[in-house]
Amino acid sequence: MALFPEAWMDELLSKNDIASVVAEYVELTPKGRRLWGCCPFHSEKTPSFSVSADKQMYYCFGCHAGGGVVQFIKEMEKLNYPEAVAFLARRVNMELPSEINDEQLRRERALKERLYNACRDAAMFYHKQLMGDNGVKAREYLAKRGIDRAAVTRFGIGYAPEGWEDLKKHMLEKGYREDELISAGLAVKGKSGRVYDAYRARVIFPIIAANERVVAFGARTMIADETPKYINTGDTPIYSKRANLYAINLLKGKKIDDIIMVEGYMDAIRLHSAGIDNAVASLGTALTAKQAKLIKRYVSKVFIAYDGDSAGRNATLRGLDILAAEGIDVKVITIPDDMDPDDFVKKYGAEAFLKLKDSARTLEMFKLDFMSQSYDLMTDDGREKYAESACNYIAKLKPVIQRRYCKYVAEKTGISLEAIVKQCELDSKDDNANSFALTRNNRDKKSPSELSEREKCELTILACALMGKDVFVRIRKHPDFSVENVFVNDDIKGCYKAIAECYERGETPNIGAILAAMPGDEQMLTPALIEQESITDGYVTAADCIERITVIDLKNKLQSVANGMKNASGDKRMRLSDEYAALIKELKQRNKS
Ligand code: CTP
Ligand code: MN
Repeated sequence: MALFPEAWMDELLSKNDIASVVAEYVELTPKGRRLWGCCPFHSEKTPSFSVSADKQMYYCFGCHAGGGVVQFIKEMEKLNYPEAVAFLARRVNMELPSEINDEQLRRERALKERLYNACRDAAMFYHKQLMGDNGVKAREYLAKRGIDRAAVTRFGIGYAPEGWEDLKKHMLEKGYREDELISAGLAVKGKSGRVYDAYRARVIFPIIAANERVVAFGARTMIADETPKYINTGDTPIYSKRANLYAINLLKGKKIDDIIMVEGYMDAIRLHSAGIDNAVASLGTALTAKQAKLIKRYVSKVFIAYDGDSAGRNATLRGLDILAAEGIDVKVITIPDDMDPDDFVKKYGAEAFLKLKDSARTLEMFKLDFMSQSYDLMTDDGREKYAESACNYIAKLKPVIQRRYCKYVAEKTGISLEAIVKQCELDSKDDNANSFALTRNNRDKKSPSELSEREKCELTILACALMGKDVFVRIRKHPDFSVENVFVNDDIKGCYKAIAECYERGETPNIGAILAAMPGDEQMLTPALIEQESITDGYVTAADCIERITVIDLKNKLQSVANGMKNASGDKRMRLSDEYAALIKELKQRNKS
């Protein structure tokens, strides 16, 4: 559970008071026991976002976002848990535990810092070049492509002059070393040993990571048909193309519902310039799980808008699976006539693009269409064979959505809906094991309203246990209470155990610290902890919840015994029916009392 030493975390949390951290993002006003402001996680005009300084927690009564200070930074800065902790450490000038005694780590960190700075300085150099006397042709090129001044500024576009050492000279003057320029991908070493600029006579697109630092560059030729069209920074100590997305830096602080994923620099720039400011580009490479995870920090819905050509379609297919595997809801925007989003928006405008977005195909439709390309739908034989493999696919989908796609295939092939449905039923009998393969990844995160009745009870017990040691001890003595029987949700159980350990050590549990020590999803726990404020008698409330949990479990058991009885015979059936009767009796008694 603990990624960072407890004492170090305690210091970190005591220095990063939640009210002061949140106040850097949200204007807070005190009212009652809390501070209030407009929620940074959803759109609102009247404040429903609150910060409790005593609990070191925040909670939004509108969108139910909540947690401790680490969670807040995770959400706000779009970081994962260790990154968020490191962010808070940097905020208060604390060294990470790993750095304190490790000279090599320190050196690596210092080198990275220099490379970040080198890339930033290079980007500024290129931008100046574009805007200056050397940049006339490049400015003409950009103007011709319809990239205006605002886009140049927003994306930090630049120009690498023709000379072999212009950037190098500038950077050496600034105190960088040749080997640093090479490490950062800004310069290369020729066979003769000469070190020269990596990008020359090209338009420069800086790639800026989610942490808002320049990490790499794309350099486009201005000459038609020159190859390579783009020269891109390879992997460096501060850049992995598999883990980055172009324009991701522009999403921070925006309240967006979805992301549009495009292939190229120009596509992303065009969409942003046209006011569609939720576009990011995967830069021509196959999407990776790391990129999908990065996206998940922002949204859970993605529209893929790759080029309309066949390479684009193949890339789409791969991208769909990668995104879906991370539990992202994906749809496909199809650009007509082999155009890319840049061409399309330039020609028809943003409205037309948003119409394409509205009629985006689901992942399933895209796959069913893609599959059909391998068949000749003009012939009976082709249509039947296609229908067969389509049904095989549909049979593996969630039952509730199958009918929609049966209809889709029926319309596509002219085969009756009845026949398609029947075929799918046959196929699903063959292959039950796979039926939820596509949905399994969707479960992770639960919003408070998605919690089961039982989980809500578990949370309330947790909240009661936090009210004080006396309540905690009484709950523990309840005849129906045991950690294993009461808590089935692992997050809640983990939290309870941490609380119990605190009391046993004679300490008062610090809920902020407990939340911060949970790398998992603490969002879910917060509402219960807020609810705690309205509990008057902790023990009575907890006892009621324990009772409710016991009844829920009894009912479930009853159901499974009843199911077992359906298929059992002889002795086994007798035994089950005895068990059934006993369960009924116990339930009746519990209902009476
Ligand atoms: N790409 C690349 N190297 C190439 C070609 C393409 O790195 N030689 C990457 C670039 O990130 C590019 C993306 O793949 O943006 C998509 O390629 P393509 O569709 O060919 O380029 P466009 O983005 O359409 O670029 P432009 O409009 O400038 O021609
Ligand atoms: Mn293009």
